[in-house]
Amino acid sequence: MSSGLITTAYIAAGVLFILALGGLSNQETARRGNLYGILGMAIALAATILGQEVTGYALIVFTMGIGGAIGVMVSRKVQMTQMPELVAILHSFVGMAAVLVGIAGYLDPNTHSLTGVEKSIHEVEVYLGVFIGAVTFTGSVVAFGKLRGTIGSRPLLLPFRHFINLVAIIVTIGIGTLFVGAEGTGFPLFGLVIMTLIAFGVGWHMVMAIGGADMPVVISMLNSYSGWAAAATGFMLGNDLLIIAGALVGSSGAILSYIMCKAMNRSLVNVILGGFGTSGGKVVEGGEQGEAIPTNLEETAALLKGAKNVVIVPGYGMAVAQAQHPVFELTQLLRKAGVNVRFAIHPVAGRMPGHMNVLLAEARVPYNIVLEMDEINEDLQDTDAVLVIGANDIVNPSALEDPNSPIAGMPVLEVWKAGTVVVLKRSMATGYAGVENPLFFKENTRMLFGDAKESITGLLAAV
Ligand code: TAP
Repeated sequence: MSSGLITTAYIAAGVLFILALGGLSNQETARRGNLYGILGMAIALAATILGQEVTGYALIVFTMGIGGAIGVMVSRKVQMTQMPELVAILHSFVGMAAVLVGIAGYLDPNTHSLTGVEKSIHEVEVYLGVFIGAVTFTGSVVAFGKLRGTIGSRPLLLPFRHFINLVAIIVTIGIGTLFVGAEGTGFPLFGLVIMTLIAFGVGWHMVMAIGGADMPVVISMLNSYSGWAAAATGFMLGNDLLIIAGALVGSSGAILSYIMCKAMNRSLVNVILGGFGTSGGKVVEGGEQGEAIPTNLEETAALLKGAKNVVIVPGYGMAVAQAQHPVFELTQLLRKAGVNVRFAIHPVAGRMPGHMNVLLAEARVPYNIVLEMDEINEDLQDTDAVLVIGANDIVNPSALEDPNSPIAGMPVLEVWKAGTVVVLKRSMATGYAGVENPLFFKENTRMLFGDAKESITGLLAAV
């Protein structure tokens, strides 16, 4: 393939990647966005493989076959709730690829002829690419372990942890100044390997210190790092498309992290410094708060049938119970009976951005009745009944009322302002942030205990 044709293909792929991101910003166009992304990646791969420098086709076809088969198998098997884990482990591959390509790029005999500024620029690209890649690799592996539960989600708070990180960064910069411009490959290679080991440690330590509740922000941050690592690799290899794709991933990951932090009323620095979040799930006793009032299917069905306006607030528990299909059936039933049913989506409901939107779209809930928190919060006071399905932190009034609460300042869905609130969950356990929820003890709240799918199926029959 001529270099002109490759450049044209790269530009087309770059445009398709931008269109993919644009499409993914809205659930109605998300499917199209994904198709643009797939097409862009297919063009990018084909153009790269057919490039003049590539020769080992048999090996490429063989490794792509194995990688592709594993990818198809894993993505068919993965549950929606495990998606963040999958994303985390895939980022670790990008990180490791950046490390290996960086070291290979340094050892590549073709680059040994570089001199002066060109040589220094190449070495900076290698050094940065390997550093970011190594941090991304171990950070993503730890994030994967925390999300999967193989590593405890409680933050690991080593004494002098900020000092340890600072020393690691200073040593990394120190080795970097010796690495860039050094003659020969013996000593610099040793420095590169030492820096890689330090960066592995930094990635591990950084994510170990972050609590489980912040893990989705960390995933999106690591997504951003993996993009910058790819962009640095693109500069090193002189591959324009890798620079474009890396920059798109890097900046969109950074923007997403910012949006999530804003929704939780936290700063990115506060998240990165770690220490927030506990393992969650501890059972809360009534005590001073009063007693929670349990309800049953018949009472809840009567409440829903008698309501004019109903708002459903889905949370992580709806995803765990896979209750989205019966929830939609219930919605249809109520809408047929003349009840105005709408969904209220908190920006950090569930365990990943857009988690609830994806589930509701899968169950074919019409988009026009799915509203974002800002669009519906003011209407809650005029709502007769709210069904909170497996949500907890996102409807916790202490975020607004108790300045000492660990989630103080986080914007929440103010469901307690509605006529009656029915909370569907299995027990009085806390949510992911491990924070007590005074909503459960309010006068107008009723607790419908049980698995969300079973409760909704029961409600369907009762309604
Ligand atoms: P959570 O606060 O984690 O609460 C989920 C509730 O679902 C739990 O209290 C649990 O209570 C219940 N549950 C679990 N399995 C259930 C089942 N099978 N049936 C019925 N109920 C079930 O979830 P949320 O309200 O969606 O809030 C999300 C949390 O994740 C927030 O703390 C948020 O800050 C954090 N977070 C999310 C994101 C993104 S992007 N989504 C990003 C950063 C942080 P029981 O055990 O009693 O059933």
